[in-house]
Amino acid sequence: MQFFIDTASLSEIKEAYDMGVLDGVTTNPSLMAKENITGHDNITAHYKAICDLVDNNVSAEVIATDYDNILKEGKELAKIDDKIVVKVPMIKDGVKAIKAFSSEGIRTNCTLIFNAGQAMLAAKAGASYISPFLGRLDDISTDGLSLIGQIVLIFGNYGFETEVLAASIRHNMHLIQCAELGADVATCPLSVITGLLKHPLTDSGLEKFLADYKKGNA
Ligand code: E4P
Repeated sequence: MQFFIDTASLSEIKEAYDMGVLDGVTTNPSLMAKENITGHDNITAHYKAICDLVDNNVSAEVIATDYDNILKEGKELAKIDDKIVVKVPMIKDGVKAIKAFSSEGIRTNCTLIFNAGQAMLAAKAGASYISPFLGRLDDISTDGLSLIGQIVLIFGNYGFETEVLAASIRHNMHLIQCAELGADVATCPLSVITGLLKHPLTDSGLEKFLADYKKGNA
């Protein structure tokens, strides 16, 4: 499973990349606003800065919601860098735009997926990735993880090439369960990636190894 980081913070992206485990980045307008990145030129420059930090797969979301402007905006985003994946919302004009991007070889990530029907529509239109938001489903007392399993099953049944990008991940168990279910990618905050490092027996075991080494080499 590929690990993407879900942030627009350059320092967090760098930290995950430097660990050697990062396969990509997802952003959205809320994450850009959180970093105080506003205005067309600043946003464009920020996407370029993100692309310069990583090897590939930087999702940049369109703001437009009508077909013509989604196409225009998506093409501008794709021109920033070959690493850009144009993130398009799951709406009718978005699906049409994904089809057009796909025929032009522009990679897309269909965002705001909350059921398997939406996932199939985006896949049939040729999306490179679909992003089911499992944490937001959990937030409304619906089982987000079962949606991941359902989509993986359906895509496997029909050989869809679209990758399942599990999004809105809240904690380590979400990430591990997504891997069990066969998601192609999980995008998550830095805290979830670094959280995978932690186990109390690792900490106490290391402490004892170092103490024993010190005793033996005193
Ligand atoms: C990623 O592509 C999504 O925008 C993101 O994972 C949403 O996460 P949230 O539900 O924590 O905002």
